[in-house]
Amino acid sequence: MDYNLETVVSWAKRKWFVYPGSDIYGWLANAWDLGPYGTMLRKNILDSWYQTFTQRRSDIIPLDAAILMNVKTWEASGHLSNFSDPLVDDKNTGERFRVDKIIEDVIEKFRKNKSEEEIINQLKEEFWVDNTVPESWTFEQMKAFIEKYVSKNPNNWKEANWTDIRKFNLMFKTFQWVTEDNTATIYLRPETAQGIFVNFKNILDTMRVKIPFGISQVGKSFRNEITPWNFLFRVREFEQMEIEYFVEPEKDAFYFERWKEDCWAWWTETLWINKEKLRFRDHEEDELSHYSKGTTDVEYKFPWWWGELQGIARRWDYDLTQHQKHSLVNMQYTDPKTGHRFIPWVIEPSWGLTRAIATAMIDSYDEEKYTDPKWNEQTRIVSRFHKNIAPIKFAILPLMEKKQELVDIADKIFLDLSKEFMCEYDGKWNIGKRYRRQDEIWTPFCVTIDFDTLEDNTVTVRDRDSMNQIRVKIKDLRDVYENSEKYFN
Ligand code: GAP
Repeated sequence: MDYNLETVVSWAKRKWFVYPGSDIYGWLANAWDLGPYGTMLRKNILDSWYQTFTQRRSDIIPLDAAILMNVKTWEASGHLSNFSDPLVDDKNTGERFRVDKIIEDVIEKFRKNKSEEEIINQLKEEFWVDNTVPESWTFEQMKAFIEKYVSKNPNNWKEANWTDIRKFNLMFKTFQWVTEDNTATIYLRPETAQGIFVNFKNILDTMRVKIPFGISQVGKSFRNEITPWNFLFRVREFEQMEIEYFVEPEKDAFYFERWKEDCWAWWTETLWINKEKLRFRDHEEDELSHYSKGTTDVEYKFPWWWGELQGIARRWDYDLTQHQKHSLVNMQYTDPKTGHRFIPWVIEPSWGLTRAIATAMIDSYDEEKYTDPKWNEQTRIVSRFHKNIAPIKFAILPLMEKKQELVDIADKIFLDLSKEFMCEYDGKWNIGKRYRRQDEIWTPFCVTIDFDTLEDNTVTVRDRDSMNQIRVKIKDLRDVYENSEKYFN
């Protein structure tokens, strides 16, 4: 079942996955902090990505470059001149809006009573566009659309007086001291990728790599988004997990397809995001970033509409050539067999870690009706996420916290299992309430220590999804985690 965004966000806040940023000062709009469970979720997603795409790949090596980079990087990469979104101001209020976003909202309303095909036919007839991706339209087409369909300011619903559409650079500007009374402008990076490109020569000179090979990096990126929106989906500070994969130019198409397959497999078979809600979408020609010869996005069907989780781009030799031109450092690779020298082409799979966190929460949230023999029909909130990604793997629950001997065993189990697994100790409330609480935060297994445990070293393990309970020896708890299908089906 699908749930609206407000329901999921309210649960995520209540259950300590996220907090509004700078909450005690009334929030910094659209900034979010990860709470304890959000932090664990982030780590698990990141670990799974790192294991899949770096640890288990002999052709990919990691890097961790600085966020602040020499301004020449951004001149060379084209971000200073090209990295922008279209905006309009309402002259009546001075408010600024991202035009493609306003148009998307109107198209979303069309969708309530028209099919996608009907909408595209209408757009073709009225504005000569053949898609519902306003990012790919010309400024004239966007202007014509808002003149016809957006007469009101979306914030106050009063008549708007729109300016012409302009470009707005998304680079996050800041200043650093060069002398005591003089500052220089620098930028927070808008993508981690450039940290990889500027280190390409270092890697070539030090790591004995052979093409094809990739460099992976995880880190914060910053974009001065005009209209951040939809929870963690579009924020000004977010994390990316990126790989620049260097190939021979003639193999670019082959590796592009291969990367699409690898990425799809990660989303669906490692992270276990619902396949029915995922799709590939190729960028329209006019929508491509300035560095790309072709991009395919992995999109998820969010409660509001399809949204990008990841871009897979053919960056050809654009970046290395630009850096060679601006730095005068030779970026060529020499084929060890043939001696042929060339600038490699690049396939770039770029994942949004922050969006992956949001997607995990949205995709797994569920409310389930079940019959409790004592209380009849009940509803429980249960997040059915894969055990590998769940923040807590085992909840350790002594049946009665007043009984020290039960608590002692619980402590021992906690100490032992927590060497490998994130565990949570909980001794408060009745056992049913504790199960419900763990269901809400995804915990796959609850371990209850009771009076029989004192006799025979067995505990009750309760499975989140089936709610079935089994009795196992304490020493078998690891096996329950590893081979849960053997115990619960
Ligand atoms: N280096 C290529 C690059 O940065 P991108 O499509 O602009 O490509 C890659 O960004 C990913 O970063 C996106 O697919 C998305 O998941 C994430 N991302 C981009 N802007 C974001 C924002 N404002 N808030 C959250 N995530 C964002």
